[in-house]
Amino acid sequence: MWNLPTGDQLSARDAEQNLLHERAAAATREVFGNRVFVRAVVEISNYCRENCHYCGMRRDNRALERYRARFEEIAELLIHHRPESVTDINLQAGEDPIAVREIAIPLIRTLRRETRLGLSVCLGTLDHQLYSELLAAGASVYILKFETADAAAYNRCEAPGNLEERLRHIRHLAATGWNVSSGFICGLPGQTDEQLLENLHLAARLPLQGVSASPFIAGEQTPLADAVCDAADKTLNCMALLRLTKPSWVIPAVSALNLAQPGDGYARGLRAGANLVTMNLTPRPLRQNYVLYKRGRFIMDEGRVLDSLAQTGLEPSTQSLAGYYQAPTACASLALTA
Ligand code: 5AD
Repeated sequence: MWNLPTGDQLSARDAEQNLLHERAAAATREVFGNRVFVRAVVEISNYCRENCHYCGMRRDNRALERYRARFEEIAELLIHHRPESVTDINLQAGEDPIAVREIAIPLIRTLRRETRLGLSVCLGTLDHQLYSELLAAGASVYILKFETADAAAYNRCEAPGNLEERLRHIRHLAATGWNVSSGFICGLPGQTDEQLLENLHLAARLPLQGVSASPFIAGEQTPLADAVCDAADKTLNCMALLRLTKPSWVIPAVSALNLAQPGDGYARGLRAGANLVTMNLTPRPLRQNYVLYKRGRFIMDEGRVLDSLAQTGLEPSTQSLAGYYQAPTACASLALTA
């Protein structure tokens, strides 16, 4: 039913790569027209009980000052001062159940009552009870990456629990009413093309509505700090292949693309089939300590997000991502009449 990609496409460059990306962009336009979902992320806590080797917020990183955002400050920001183009909010944190209870759930309840924003969360593997409280509060999209489809590599990276468990959480979320987005890191040290391909195949087998491919960035203060990172092109090819695998998936242009390829990584993502952009609204003093990779973050603010859309001939969607997930055909028919 779906077009499963093959290995040689991962390494496409030059004309062959352009063709692959153009095909992916055309498939995106068929479903979404030239509209791209615009979401804002707020990073509500950088405490983390996990120890992933690739991530700067791992618990063993003692050099990091930890924070939890104040509920009132974020509520005020999102209700009264959010940029007009934002239709969805993503609340993100390290794996920190305290922040889920004390910040995320009250914020979601408040935003559900006061706004029509679509509400996504990226909060890690939690107890089933917390998932259902988040859903009952009014969130509808859960982002839980499987990181790598290779169980041994997953363990080597000390990613949360083990791969089987992570996949069980993804399936549980989907079975209990969440719209689930997952994803993987492209270019982890030692990753072969065969393993990379397995990420694409695993994504196709999971009950997902969105999938991301993120380029590996060697994070400061992590065991992988000195590893080679040169995965920009492969990541872009993975994004294009994901799009061609299932054209209705929502595929983000992740901010790490700008670190992997300074200058135009993000725009290239939008030309290779991405249809979701994220601007960062985390208050400035907190943001500097939310370090997935390194301190010199490339912050996508509203200006940069809208510029990257304009640069690629795309427009912000007025329909929310959460709304599309609930009624995907509405968007498809909009594209047909656009
Ligand atoms: N390189 C690429 N992606 C990373 N992530 C964390 N650290 C890195 C890194 N060094 C991604 C993981 C995680 C998400 C929040 O960020 O996929 O799930």
